Amino acid sequence: MITVDNITALREQVRQARLNGRRIAFVPTMGNLHAGHMSLIATARQHADFVVASIFVNPLQFGPNEDLDSYPRTLAADQEKLAAAGCALLFTPTDALMYPNGMDNHCLVHVPEVSEGLCGGSRPGHFDGVATVVTKLFNMVQPDLAVFGEKDYQQLTVIRKMVSELNIPVQIIGAPIVRDSDGLALSSRNGYLDAAQRKTAPALHGCLQQSVARIRSGRRDYAALLQQAAQELTEAGMQPDYLELREADSLQPANADSRRLVMLAAAFLGNTRLIDNIEFDVQP
Ligand code: PAJ
Repeated sequence: MITVDNITALREQVRQARLNGRRIAFVPTMGNLHAGHMSLIATARQHADFVVASIFVNPLQFGPNEDLDSYPRTLAADQEKLAAAGCALLFTPTDALMYPNGMDNHCLVHVPEVSEGLCGGSRPGHFDGVATVVTKLFNMVQPDLAVFGEKDYQQLTVIRKMVSELNIPVQIIGAPIVRDSDGLALSSRNGYLDAAQRKTAPALHGCLQQSVARIRSGRRDYAALLQQAAQELTEAGMQPDYLELREADSLQPANADSRRLVMLAAAFLGNTRLIDNIEFDVQP
């Protein structure tokens, strides 16, 4: 695997691969790679024969009181994992390369509606930062397809709408959530948890599972159900940020007639904010 940190070398590598008839897949990440990220590389390899990954902790998508400075940076270990997984090219741009004139007056990609509420409500400006950096990375790499995790369900929805409405010629592929054996969705932020918090953390997934089971067994009083779930999550030792039921794909609010739903949640354990979701069908 080759690691490049500038656009000229990146484009040269991708141009060569394309000249050789390769289909180019792209997996953008912020590094500190775990099995969730590696599943995206595996999916990318199923759809293409030249996989490009990027590692960039994007300051534009972090709020002023968030964990930009403490976000784990583990480049050497990440490079080993990517090489072993068959990634061909790793792009590691610097802040100066991405934002040479700073971030204050940088042009932004805003994706209305789907970026509002949920994580967009709790993290103002977050999805503008994500949409902007992903657009830039797409323009730098120019892949045929890109793989994103369903773990960040709203992010995937934002990227799909952005690519569709801006006619960006990149096919978007969603990959399922990879979890630990106790159900906790893998996340770089799980590393912030102490031993007691780590024991509590699977309650987030448990709470989603229980709610989905209640809906499947016929409950349609969604407002009361969500209130109950928030209470149960609090009793389990987490502080809910949001718990919501939306229509899958569109993220429109769910009603009793909605058939394909997603239940999404974010909750704090101390200062650590974890997110999770379950997509599921409801029978009439
Ligand atoms: P990051 O949090 O590093 O995640 C990179 C990709 O890995 C995202 O598509 C995310 O959904 C996926 N991912 C993370 N945990 C996962 C899990 N447990 N199972 C499956 N997929 C998982 O998301 C970002 O970085 C950034 O916002 C980025 C898109 C790179 C833009 O800066």
